[in-house]
Amino acid sequence: MCGIVGYVGDRDATPVLVNALRKLEYRGYDSAGIAVIGPEGLVVRKAKGALRRLEELIATETIRGSCGIGHTRWATHGEPSDVNSHPHTDVSGRIAVVHNGIIENHAKLRAWLEGRGVAFRSQTDTEVIAHLVDHHYEGDLLKAVVAVMGRIEGSYALAVVCEDEPGKIVAVRKDSPLVVGLGKAENLIASDVPALLEYTREVVYLEDKEIAVLTRDRVDFFDGAGERLSKKPSHVDWDVAAAEKGGFEHFMLKEIHEQPKALTDTFRARVDGDGKVNLSEIGLDESWARARRVVITACGTAWHAGVVAKYAFERIARIPVDVDIASEFRYRSPLFDPSDIFIIISQSGETADTLAAMRMARSSGARVIAITNVVGSTLAREADLVMYTWAGPEIAVASTKAFTTQLMCVYLIAIRLAALRGALADADAARLVGELSRLPDSARAILDRQAEIQRFASQSFNKSKAFFMGRLFDYAISLESALKLKEISYTHSEAFAAGELKHGPIALVDDSTLVVAICTQRELFDKMDSNIKEVKARGATVLVVTFDGESYFDATADAVFRVPEAPGELTPILSVIPCQLYAYYCAIQRGLDPDKPRNLAKSVTVE
Ligand code: F6R
Repeated sequence: MCGIVGYVGDRDATPVLVNALRKLEYRGYDSAGIAVIGPEGLVVRKAKGALRRLEELIATETIRGSCGIGHTRWATHGEPSDVNSHPHTDVSGRIAVVHNGIIENHAKLRAWLEGRGVAFRSQTDTEVIAHLVDHHYEGDLLKAVVAVMGRIEGSYALAVVCEDEPGKIVAVRKDSPLVVGLGKAENLIASDVPALLEYTREVVYLEDKEIAVLTRDRVDFFDGAGERLSKKPSHVDWDVAAAEKGGFEHFMLKEIHEQPKALTDTFRARVDGDGKVNLSEIGLDESWARARRVVITACGTAWHAGVVAKYAFERIARIPVDVDIASEFRYRSPLFDPSDIFIIISQSGETADTLAAMRMARSSGARVIAITNVVGSTLAREADLVMYTWAGPEIAVASTKAFTTQLMCVYLIAIRLAALRGALADADAARLVGELSRLPDSARAILDRQAEIQRFASQSFNKSKAFFMGRLFDYAISLESALKLKEISYTHSEAFAAGELKHGPIALVDDSTLVVAICTQRELFDKMDSNIKEVKARGATVLVVTFDGESYFDATADAVFRVPEAPGELTPILSVIPCQLYAYYCAIQRGLDPDKPRNLAKSVTVE
C-alpha cells in the first residue's frame, strides 16, 4: 500500500514532500523517493529502506524547486531496491511518475514499448506508465495522462510531473485512494489525509477515474475523458491519529473493511479476460501437475488458511494434501517425495518455524510455492515460486485481510492445478472463477451489516468461554475464529469439528458458554442442527452463521448472522468476516486495544 504525495506552491518542495511521506509511514513501505522540478530541471532521488535513508541521501545537497512528487513504495512487482523505488522516469528523464496500485496489463505494454526501442531500468509495472506518458506527450500533460488511462488496466493512483510544464502536477485515481489538499498559494495531493493536515484541512476526495490538475493557484478537475468537473471541498476535523486509520477507530477494523478491495486485487490480476486462471506470473506450469501430493505448512492464522487449502485442493484438484503446523513439521520425521509440492503460507514471510519448514522441504528436493504478503521477504526470496497476496501492509497484530487473501490465492492455485491435472471440467472451473469474482461484493454486503454483530457482541462479550464448531470448511473457519477471539479479547475460546462434540468437548458446555456454529455446508445442515440442539440442551447460547434467506436454524439458534450464498468450498472467505468482527467488538466491549494484544508480536522471527 504505497503512499503518494505531491506539492506545488511557494515553499521548497523537498522538505514538504519528505514531511508528508513521514505521515504516510504507517501504511508500510520498503523504499522512498522524490522528484522535484526546479532550475536544474527534474531531479529524482530515491532509496531502498526507511525514509531516513532518503533523507541521508539528500542531506548534502540543496534540491531547489517548489513543485514535486514523492512516494513510499510497498513492493509488488520487483523486489525492494533503489532502482525499483518510485518515482520512475521516461527515457529522457523529463517526466516522472509515482504510482500506487497494480497495472495488470503491464507485461503486454512493456513488450510493446520494448518493441519501440524503450530500454527499461526497473522490474516494476509502474515504469510502463512513465514511458507511455512520454509516448503520448505532445505538450499537454493532462492529454497525455488521459491517453495513458485508456491503455492501462488495473488499479492506480498516479501523480505525474513533466519538466516542460514546471509548476504542474497531474493526478488521477482508479481503485486506489487519492486526496487533494487545497491551500493558500499552494496545493497538495496525497494518498491519505494525514499527509495534508499540516498544510490544510480543506480537501477534495477524488473518485474513480477523476483527474486533478494542480498548480500553485488552482486545482482543476476532469473526468476520465478530460471533460471539466466541479468538485466540492470537504473540511477535515479529525486529528492526525484518527486520520491514519482512515477514520476507523483501529487498524484492525480498517483492515477488516479493506477485505473487499484486497480480495479484488488478489483475484483480478490472476484471471484473464476469458475467465481462465492464469498463473504464468508465478510460473505454475505443467511440470507441477505431476505431483502426487501437496504438503502445506504454516503457523497460526496462516496454518488455518492451510486447513482450508487441504479441503479445497482435495475437492477441486483431487490431489492428496497433508497440512501441518510448521513447528510440528520441523521436529517430526516427515517423509518426502521429490514430486511433492510444498505450499508455505506466511503473511510476513519471516516466521522462524515456517522458514525452517520451507528450508527442510527444499533440501529434500521438493519444490516450494510461497504464499506471502511481503515482497522481498525471506520466504519470497528462497521459495521456488511466489504468489503474493497483495493485501497491502497489515498493521494490526491480528491477521484479517492477509488471511482472506491467502484463501483467494489458495483457490486460484487449486483451480489452476485442477486444470493442469485434468481434474476439473472447463465449465466447472469457469463456474468457480465466476463465484470467486463475486466474493468481494459479498464481503462488502457482510460489512454493511456489521451493526448486527456489534449488537450481539454487546450482549455476549462477558461469556467466560466460547466454542466455535463446524464441519469441513466451517471447521477450518471455526479454528480461525476461535484464535481471533482469544488473541484480542482474551476470552477462553476453542474450536471443534462439530462431529467431535460428543467425544469430549460437550462436557465443558454449560450456561456460561457461547457456541458459534458455522453452518455453510448445506449437505451437513441436519448434522449441525443436531449439534446445536445438543449444546442448547446444556444451556449454551448459540450464534449461527449461515446463508441469506436460510431459516433452517431459526428455531434452534439464539441469534443468526447471515452471509451471501456461495458454493460450500468458497464460503470460508465470507463466514470468517462476521467472526473477525465479533472478536473485534468483544475486545472493544472489554475495554481492550484490539491492535495491540498482550504478549503477541506481529512477526514471530524467533522460535
Ligand atoms: C493471528 C496471527 C498469527 C500469525 C502467525 C503466522 O492473528 O496473526 O497467528 O498468523 O504468527 O504469521 P505469518 O503469517 O507472518 O507467518
